Amino acid sequence: MTAAVELQITDVAFGGKGVAHANGKAVFVPYVIDGETVSASITREHKKFLEAELESIVTASPHRVEPRCPYFGRCGGCVYQHIDYERQLALKWRQVKETLRRIGGLKEPPMRPFIPSPIEYEYRNRITVHVRDGAVGFFRRESNKLLDIERCPIALNEVNAQLAELRGSRPRDGHYTLRASAAPRVFTQANDAVAAAMLDLVDRLLGSATGTLIDAYCGAGFFSKRLRGRFGKVIGIDWDQHAIAVAREDANENETYVAVDVETELGARLQSIAPASDGGNSAVIADPPATGLSKMILETLIEHRPTQLVYVSCNPATLARDLVTLKQSFRIDSITPLDMFPQTAEIEVVADLHA
Ligand SMILES: C[S@@+](CC[C@H](N)C(=O)[O-])C[C@H]1O[C@@H](n2cnc3c(N)ncnc32)[C@H](O)[C@@H]1O
Repeated sequence: MTAAVELQITDVAFGGKGVAHANGKAVFVPYVIDGETVSASITREHKKFLEAELESIVTASPHRVEPRCPYFGRCGGCVYQHIDYERQLALKWRQVKETLRRIGGLKEPPMRPFIPSPIEYEYRNRITVHVRDGAVGFFRRESNKLLDIERCPIALNEVNAQLAELRGSRPRDGHYTLRASAAPRVFTQANDAVAAAMLDLVDRLLGSATGTLIDAYCGAGFFSKRLRGRFGKVIGIDWDQHAIAVAREDANENETYVAVDVETELGARLQSIAPASDGGNSAVIADPPATGLSKMILETLIEHRPTQLVYVSCNPATLARDLVTLKQSFRIDSITPLDMFPQTAEIEVVADLHA
């Protein structure tokens, strides 16, 4: 640790760290806000950048607020509790735009306004906690050590009641996903209000699309259940057999759900639909995990070119990487960020692409 230096924070980068400059290098400092002057100590020196820890605020931003969680600053979960909500959204919006410019090579990404979360705390309908040597909680920031947590203020009260119950039950070491009452034990969107807004958005974006809908990475059919009424045929693909079993429970005649790898299935399914140039009409929703789409999936989408592709991403960096390839064959009509996880660095983004 070196002596404290004074830094002017010029930006907050994706991931949550503030950006400043010293000795001709960028310096990354957590828990600060653009526009602030802070005193910080340099903790690591890399070839191209420095890392620092906040010592004190010299000039505070008008957007600085009191964090609600006693673990904030130590817990690896939230990074923005010290910033008012409107500013969090403005920063995240800029981060998406910059990521699409820098990685995606899009000069002017067609950004739409942020869809905010109507609830800023107490929104998470599920959390995964870890148990080790009697401690029950989340990993500490940038560490694999556990922080014992009694209550998580971004989780719903029902979820915190389950946490209290788990803590009282002397659980064995391991990982425990705690869910608000009736949620199935498969992937579900974590913020009900924003999930509903995302459904409305995808529904709107698909406009008057008909024909065949392929819901790739469909989980339990979150998107296809809403859209099945207007498509002649709906095909859901996910390799989680439990999720597919849930999706099949109330499937109509026009719905098919297959429990396989999207890589092995997507090409064959798209091939069976006539290409747009021959009057075929197909839409694909792709909602992959944070790693984004593989090279093979990207090639499949380019080769078969569905009429519309709605790409739902939980990682702007992999979305931007994938758009580099997709923009060769698709027109990008809009990019809409959604705040599924207020107080955290996470950003959900929906990109609307057309052949
Ligand atoms: C972000 S979730 C989306 C689920 C669903 N669209 C929803 O909104 O509830 C990603 C899903 O992709 C599935 N998955 C990940 N990689 C896959 C692959 N290579 N093939 C098929 N499914 C995959 C996971 O099982 C998970 O259900």
